[in-house]
Amino acid sequence: MDAAKMGSDLERVLITNDEMQQRLKEIAKQVDADFAGRSILMVGVLKGAVMVMADLSRHLQSDVEMDWMAVSSYGSGTKSSGVVRILKDLDSDVHERHVLLAEDIIDSGLTLAWLKENLEARGAASVTIVTALRKPDALKVPVEVGYVGFDIPNEFVVGYGLDYAGKYRNLDCVGTLAPHVYGGDDVDE
Ligand code: XMP
Ligand code: MG
Repeated sequence: MDAAKMGSDLERVLITNDEMQQRLKEIAKQVDADFAGRSILMVGVLKGAVMVMADLSRHLQSDVEMDWMAVSSYGSGTKSSGVVRILKDLDSDVHERHVLLAEDIIDSGLTLAWLKENLEARGAASVTIVTALRKPDALKVPVEVGYVGFDIPNEFVVGYGLDYAGKYRNLDCVGTLAPHVYGGDDVDE
């Protein structure tokens, strides 16, 4: 879906698909250099990381295996619950693997801080985070991030895997949602 199709539900486009692809190509070059000679276990956090997993992995020249986890840290709305729960665990053993943990967005950082620690506790050789987006002003816990697509303002965004109540994940760009969609302009994340 492109921005035009969303009409007035989209407030403004923050990152176009071209900009995202360009940035992911740059990141892929760095990853290839940083992980030279090692096989990478890419772990995607469902469902939001589907797009960054698909796009980044295809820009990589390294050997890549993919696995997925589903965790819950948000309800269907726009507020963080602060609680991380594993809904679907990995199929693979991460023991002594070099893990590239991929996320759509780092907001409070709670999810990834927790996940990184969890994978390290399972004996991963290394856990490096890659995220398409990050909201620096929303961070509540420090998270060491290997690669960031774009830093964005502390606003609720949709597209490129990110949803509002299950919708707009297939929007090809990243944009802010018009307040009338979520019923107000006073969203506290
Ligand atoms: P934390 O706060 O743990 O959150 O870093 C990470 C997860 O929260 C969701 N999230 C968003 N989803 N628009 C969304 O559609 C947003 O602006 C947004 N901010 C956080 C997302 O699932 C992410 O993985
Ligand atoms: Mg997510």
